[in-house]
Amino acid sequence: MQRTVPPGITRLIGNTPLIRVRLFEREFPNLEVYAKAEWFNPGGSVKDRPALAMIEDGEKRGALTHEKTIVDSTSGNTGIAYALIGAAKGYRVKLVMPGNVSEERRALVTAFGAEIVYSDAGEGSDGAIRLVRELVETDPDQYFYPDQYSNPANPRAHYEGTAVEILEQTEGRITHFIAGLGTTGTFVGIARRLKENNASIHTIAVQPDDSFHGLEGLKHLPTAIVPRIWSEAYADEIWYCPTESAYELARRVARAEGLLVGHSSGAALWAVHRLGQTVKEGVIVTVFPDSGDRYLSTGLYGHR
Ligand SMILES: Cc1ncc(COP(=O)(O)O)c(C=O)c1O
Repeated sequence: MQRTVPPGITRLIGNTPLIRVRLFEREFPNLEVYAKAEWFNPGGSVKDRPALAMIEDGEKRGALTHEKTIVDSTSGNTGIAYALIGAAKGYRVKLVMPGNVSEERRALVTAFGAEIVYSDAGEGSDGAIRLVRELVETDPDQYFYPDQYSNPANPRAHYEGTAVEILEQTEGRITHFIAGLGTTGTFVGIARRLKENNASIHTIAVQPDDSFHGLEGLKHLPTAIVPRIWSEAYADEIWYCPTESAYELARRVARAEGLLVGHSSGAALWAVHRLGQTVKEGVIVTVFPDSGDRYLSTGLYGHR
């Protein structure tokens, strides 16, 4: 008798559900809106995909061995993904995070046995990038530094994974794609694949409207260190979302539809709504990068 070996946890990364979002259905009855529910990944966010791709790329190239410590800067979700995958594969993990990351993120990373080094909260994710570079420079042989902002395996995970899933799950009917920009891996990888498949698919990238914003995971590129993997070539439009509008929509979609999503999903919804004002018909797909339970301690959902 042939026995099926159950997969390890990292094999469950990807293949997330595509969920119908009905929040704007009355206002825009001829728009179909769908979101990739990325919190269904084992680490609870979209970042499981690039973290696994970068680690496995390092293994293949021989750059990552069990003598090394995986180190990177992260505002949280990539750190949780590294910590989970590191635990599953037996690697030490050290994460540089801004001092103000949410309590839930610190607790999760610690639970997986990773070490945290805090950078100046006021310097945001750029402060974490500068500090991790200093750490690696002082002892380059000790570390495997995937550098999620520069590593082509980050967008490739979305080019080969998320985008292909979107095309299959919409049976190629997608007309518009919207995603937020952090490292930019999600947007660049997916938009590139979609446009190669059908050049008429319209793509919109979303950023916070100010350098001081409350949208964890997203970057205001005009005032930030621009990720090396960023390419404007696949963005038909770039929109700037106010923090409060994103929060408001994250609260609304939880109550109206039972979808408890994080801040950056609220920003994606803001862009969907703006698009609905000019495009009356179409199949819009966006990405909900993580769940709202990662932000409960911020009081965003009104329990305080
Ligand atoms: C909550 C959240 N939303 C959006 C993003 C942006 O994704 P990307 O880094 O692929 O641009 C991230 C990335 O860390 C994130 O954590």
